[in-house]
Amino acid sequence: MIIAKTLEEFDNALGSLGKVGKLGLVPTMGALHEGHMTLIRRAVAECDAVVVSDFVNPTQFNNQNDFNTYPRTLEADCALLEPAGVNILLCPRVIDMYPEGSGLDTRTFDLGGLDQYGEGPRRPGHFNGMAQIVTRLFDIVKPDLAYFGEKDFQQLAIIEYFVKNLNYPLTIVRCPIARAADGLALSSRNKLLTAGQRAAAPHIYAAISKAVDMVGKVSVADAIKTVTDDIDSDSHLETEYVEIINALTLEPVTDWSQAEHIQLSCAVYARPVRLIDNIKLK
Ligand code: PAF
Repeated sequence: MIIAKTLEEFDNALGSLGKVGKLGLVPTMGALHEGHMTLIRRAVAECDAVVVSDFVNPTQFNNQNDFNTYPRTLEADCALLEPAGVNILLCPRVIDMYPEGSGLDTRTFDLGGLDQYGEGPRRPGHFNGMAQIVTRLFDIVKPDLAYFGEKDFQQLAIIEYFVKNLNYPLTIVRCPIARAADGLALSSRNKLLTAGQRAAAPHIYAAISKAVDMVGKVSVADAIKTVTDDIDSDSHLETEYVEIINALTLEPVTDWSQAEHIQLSCAVYARPVRLIDNIKLK
């Protein structure tokens, strides 16, 4: 595996691979865990060469403390990636990705209104910042396929939207949520949980799973309340939101018949850590 720390090193690394058939990209912010590894293994199996990017993107953090405390574990990440068959690890500096300096990136993206719900209003600027870095990565790496996890359900929908809107000639590969044996969705932020919070956190998936059986039996509003109360009954957890949404438009629904595909998504604090999860209801 070649480790490229600058864009020049990346170009040289890519050149050294010669003519590549299908090039895969797995964008990450590092602090790799088994969830990332399922994406990476899939990319390695499906592509002729794979680039993993490891970059904690400042423009998508709306909370400076979250950015400062985001786990950075480059050495451990390399140890996981090397045996997985990854060809290039791109771990650039901020200045490489944002040469304009402290203005970082002023581009604003059409996100198709998909940022109006869920994470959007709670994390102002997050999805635009995410679009800034993901399009930069697409422009630099020029992958044929790019792999993203469904834990970030809204992010994935937004990426699919701008890839189509901006005519990127690549395929977005959706990868199912990877969970710990106790059901907790794998996330780099899990590393920040105390032992008590980590023991409580599987309660999120247990509570949202129960909503599957509520479809068509109780009202959408009652389902949201039951799930919220269930999570909040755990003293380590505090829901920020539970939304039941049209899985395609991400718009909240008030009735089960309002959309063919319905998803529940939530954000929950195990303070100060913020966890997100989602589940398909129908
Ligand atoms: O999902 C993430 O880890 C990030 O949002 C991404 C896609 C790597 C962009 O920084």
